[in-house]
Amino acid sequence: MASVGIDAIDIWTGKLELDLAETFAPEKGEDPAKYTKGLGLYSSSLPDVYEDIVTMGANAARRLMERKDLHPQDIGRIDVATESSFDNSKPVSTYIAGCLEQVFDGDFHHANKGERKFACVSGTQSVDDAYNWIRAGRNRGRSALVIATDTALYARGDAGEATQGAGAVAMLVSEDPDLVELSPEQGYGSADETDFLKPNQQFPSVDGKRSVQVYLARMREAMEDFESVAGDIHPDDYELGPFHTPFPGMVRKAAVLAYRHIIRDTEVEDALADDIGRQPRPEAFDTEEEHLDAISEYTDRLKDTEQYRDWYERVIKPTLTISRHVGNWYTGSVHVARAGGLKWARENGRELTGKRLLVGSYGSGAQAEIHAETVQPGWTEEIADLNVDEQLNGRRGLSFEEYEQIHDVHNHAEDADVEAFTTPEREFVFDGWGRMGERKYRFVE
Ligand code: CAA
Repeated sequence: MASVGIDAIDIWTGKLELDLAETFAPEKGEDPAKYTKGLGLYSSSLPDVYEDIVTMGANAARRLMERKDLHPQDIGRIDVATESSFDNSKPVSTYIAGCLEQVFDGDFHHANKGERKFACVSGTQSVDDAYNWIRAGRNRGRSALVIATDTALYARGDAGEATQGAGAVAMLVSEDPDLVELSPEQGYGSADETDFLKPNQQFPSVDGKRSVQVYLARMREAMEDFESVAGDIHPDDYELGPFHTPFPGMVRKAAVLAYRHIIRDTEVEDALADDIGRQPRPEAFDTEEEHLDAISEYTDRLKDTEQYRDWYERVIKPTLTISRHVGNWYTGSVHVARAGGLKWARENGRELTGKRLLVGSYGSGAQAEIHAETVQPGWTEEIADLNVDEQLNGRRGLSFEEYEQIHDVHNHAEDADVEAFTTPEREFVFDGWGRMGERKYRFVE
């Protein structure tokens, strides 16, 4: 069977930056540590006046195609995953293809285009669609362009406001990939939930605290489902664990539960037993409540062990290195986590070829998906080509007043006339409205 996976990845961040500790916290009357330590976030990327999901997606895709010397005829499929779409009929992928046709010779007339929706998990679902299309032998030697793009804005004053972000991740899914091969095994945890939704409205209705619990519950189900096909997971099996990162504190909560799960009945649990006891088993308790209390106490003790801390530092923390500085990119978030982990590994001399990643995606509403990826020999070269640091350092910092203006610019209910804060250069920009209400774009040299 041919190896199929992610051949290349590129990231495009919104060009503005809101510093949470310095700028956001004082206005909210909050201790900056609530954001930096509690949520684990330092800043959010936000889109300038001329940026939106199309420009960010097209800019990421253009960079990827140029870097890999690709032409439109090499692409048989363009799928966009987003929860920030502005049209219920015409998919964002058509706009992005239109942008790319402005700068590449040829066209995408024979590429299948679509738009995927299931909150943040749809980025991974689009990668799946591409994988299945190639595996089914329908790709005619061509690759798929998968673009996860979002402006993850919340209503002003919503608790989620601190976790906002904007950016796009473009991924090339191909045979014999250079970056990671995807496992055929997958696990799902899926249920009808109302934790976070946008019923025909721009900003989400969120039950924040409940959404955290739903994330953990669905992720657990997905992990059990994955193990049912791939076998039990051991903490040493995976070098990195990129998870959907709405904010790093969420992943911190998930990580300790995952570790508790994967060490059960292993030599790690045995080795820890003298210090923190064995994991509470339900048969030892009269009621479910007593059992849950005992599990919670065990988890608190586990969190402080050297074994857990070492595993967290090695497998999880590296995946948060970009996310901490960009906020939630919804559909792109888990793909930013993968890129962050691989980038950190390369910079710290970790050899990952042939090693495996455990990837956990999540979308509210709600569904978690877990699969494995095997790192390919071309990974260091691919990751070295990312220019994430340059992009992040080049963002224009916003004062709180400027942040309020830019939030209004992107709020569909407001009619704000604000000058751009940055000057576009060699990139696609939003260029006003057409006669049928369509959005127009042009490439700026
Ligand atoms: N120093 C250190 N830590 C501090 C602190 C301080 N001074 N002040 C507060 N904290 C800690 C708190 O203890 C808390 O940590 P724990 O949860 O570990 O106890 C953390 O900082 C956040 O504080 P609060 O819980 O008081 O924060 P909040 O209620 O204002 O907001 C939230 C938290 C509800 C998650 C909010 O950010 C939110 O609604 N976010 C949007 C929804 C979301 O992202 N949900 C995640 C799961 S759903 C999903 O993943 C899909 C998606 O992408 C949206």
